[in-house]
Amino acid sequence: KSCVLAYSGGLDTSVILGWLQDQGYEVHAVYVDLGQPCEDREAIMKKARDGGAASARLIDVREELCRDFAFPVLAWQAKYEQIYLLGTSIARPLISKVCLEVAREVGATAYAHGATGKGNDQCRFQLAAEALNPKVEMIAPWRIKAFREAFPGRTELIAYCNEKNIPVKASTAKPYSSDENVLHISYEAGDLEDLNVNGVELVDFGMGVSPQEAPDTPESVTIDFESGVPVALNGNKVSALEMVEQLNAIAGRNGVGRIDMVENRFVGMKSRGVYESPGMTVLYDALMYVEQLTMDRDLMHLRDRLAPEVAEMVYYGFWYTPKMDSLMAFIRQAQKTVTGSVTLKLYKGNVMVDSRTSPNSLYDAEIATMEGGGSYNQDDAEGFLRIQGLPSRVQGIVTPRKF
Ligand code: ARG
Ligand code: SIN
Repeated sequence: KSCVLAYSGGLDTSVILGWLQDQGYEVHAVYVDLGQPCEDREAIMKKARDGGAASARLIDVREELCRDFAFPVLAWQAKYEQIYLLGTSIARPLISKVCLEVAREVGATAYAHGATGKGNDQCRFQLAAEALNPKVEMIAPWRIKAFREAFPGRTELIAYCNEKNIPVKASTAKPYSSDENVLHISYEAGDLEDLNVNGVELVDFGMGVSPQEAPDTPESVTIDFESGVPVALNGNKVSALEMVEQLNAIAGRNGVGRIDMVENRFVGMKSRGVYESPGMTVLYDALMYVEQLTMDRDLMHLRDRLAPEVAEMVYYGFWYTPKMDSLMAFIRQAQKTVTGSVTLKLYKGNVMVDSRTSPNSLYDAEIATMEGGGSYNQDDAEGFLRIQGLPSRVQGIVTPRKF
């Protein structure tokens, strides 16, 4: 029996690597590099091989994560429950894709991951995997009673590693758990479960400073978009990954992109999360300012009505679905004219627009001006409003409103 494991090098997946072998699997460890902090890649590969992995791979998909996963979601302006930019959610289908590519290569029939049975991640890993390989055997040890009974706590996990000579690094114990990639860092569990604890005061943020600590002068940043895709930063053409990384640094030092929320998990419970996504926060705002110039009104309103649906699908893990494929075709078409440039000022956590320009701008100062007539004839509004007001006038006669 052969299995691929989405391996992070952390305590849980190190134990799972051993446990799968105990269950008779040959295990191929796959470390999917999404930009999570990792001091020494070679050490992680060695750790997997020392832990008995039949093979160990590190696959860098940071560029693909930004370009093919995060940017289409950005084009939708999709945010879960108004504010979460989906930084963890969107990475999960990509992890599954990479692991299943390895499975195909090595002839593995099973795919294991370290997500718990209480969370969202199991949903995203599994829904993506089943869509890509309907025959795959999913193994989620945390959902298996015998595994949970063998490892009721951290102590037992560490004891197992010691017994198997798996090195456990004395991780500086933080009072919460975090998940980092190039798009964001999420923080949840532990002391954050107490809603009386101020989330942004408790968390030791990894990507930027607090608004209070940010510089006293605004910093300007210019972003160019081509058909809804961010392509240049401060006049320099950059890749998707460079865009996100450089904006993380710029926005991070200005205190941009921290949120604290209670969110609805797919499995039903509410959970509290603190997030920092400095670069992506700036990109969502920047794109909006270019859309304001270039996107047709009714198209924009339709997109805005569908965006929560896209966010929900990404959050739940329905990425590889015909519905999502169709929504993605829609947004590519909707963004075709969204080309232009915006200059923003970042100041103590705020993102403010400074100037914007587009060759496709639909904004016509001649029409909008309060001065003179331009090409807009105010007489036309007379008939427009008599027709718009017709139902109200009839209602007002038949059932007069008390006021
Ligand atoms: N609640 C967020 C989400 O569902 C973050 C999940 C973090 N995952 C983790 N394994 N720490 O997208
Ligand atoms: C987990 O439960 O594995 C992490 C949290 C989540 O997936 O929502």
